[in-house]
Parts: sequence; C-alpha cells; structure tokens
Amino acid sequence: MANVLFTTGGTGFSQRDVTPEATKAVCHRDVPGIPEAMRAASMQITDKAMLSRAYAGIRKNTLVINMPGSPKAVKESLEVIIEPLRHGIEILIGDASECARK
Ligand code: MTE
Repeated sequence: MANVLFTTGGTGFSQRDVTPEATKAVCHRDVPGIPEAMRAASMQITDKAMLSRAYAGIRKNTLVINMPGSPKAVKESLEVIIEPLRHGIEILIGDASECARK
C-alpha cells in the first residue's frame, strides 16, 4: 500500500472540479496544514492560488494530497511541502514518533 497518494487537478470552481469532495469522502482524518501551506506559498507567486480548494487527508496509512492541475503549479506546491512531508510520512508509518523541538 502506498503511503502517499497525489491527485492532480479538479480543485477549482468548475462544475467538474470535485476532487476535494471525492478525496474527503474516502479519508478518515483531515490534514489541513498541507493545503494551507501550499496556498500560502503559492499566493506569493499568483493570487489565483486562493482559488484552490485543495484538500489533504489520511486514509489508514495513506496520506492523500490534492495537487493543482498545471505542472507548474504542482512544482510550486510540492517545493513547499516536500521536506516536512518526509517527517509526516515517517510518523504515519511508525518510523518516527515525535517532532524535533527547536
Ligand atoms: N498554485 C500555484 N502554485 N500556481 C498556480 O499557478 N493556479 C491556481 C490554483 N493554485 C496555481 C495554483 C488556479 S488558477 C486554480 S483555478 C486552482 O489552483 C485550481 O486548479 P485546478 O482546478 O487545476 O486544480
């Protein structure tokens, strides 16, 4: 079973954009900080980032993250989350138990 699953596209406002709702429907726990961080960082690049309804959640041992549809937007979003994501996955699968304190 994969421990991270990325979806791409369908997070905007069109009638067909239902990826966040579909993802939330299969997840057991919300992870709001990930899409919040993606939107906050992306707002420095384009104010259209506020139009993203991206969602992230956990189903069993799998973290599911909605990415935007454009490859450029995916790259911009991934750059922000990739490092802390590593730690989150380690905790999720039981390889790390607590966050390092500053
Ligand atoms: N995030 C980043 N980093 N860069 C972008 O260009 N585009 C936004 C936003 N997030 C964008 C972004 C736009 S224009 C839209 S409509 C939403 O993502 C939703 O995109 P989607 O419908 O392709 O998922």
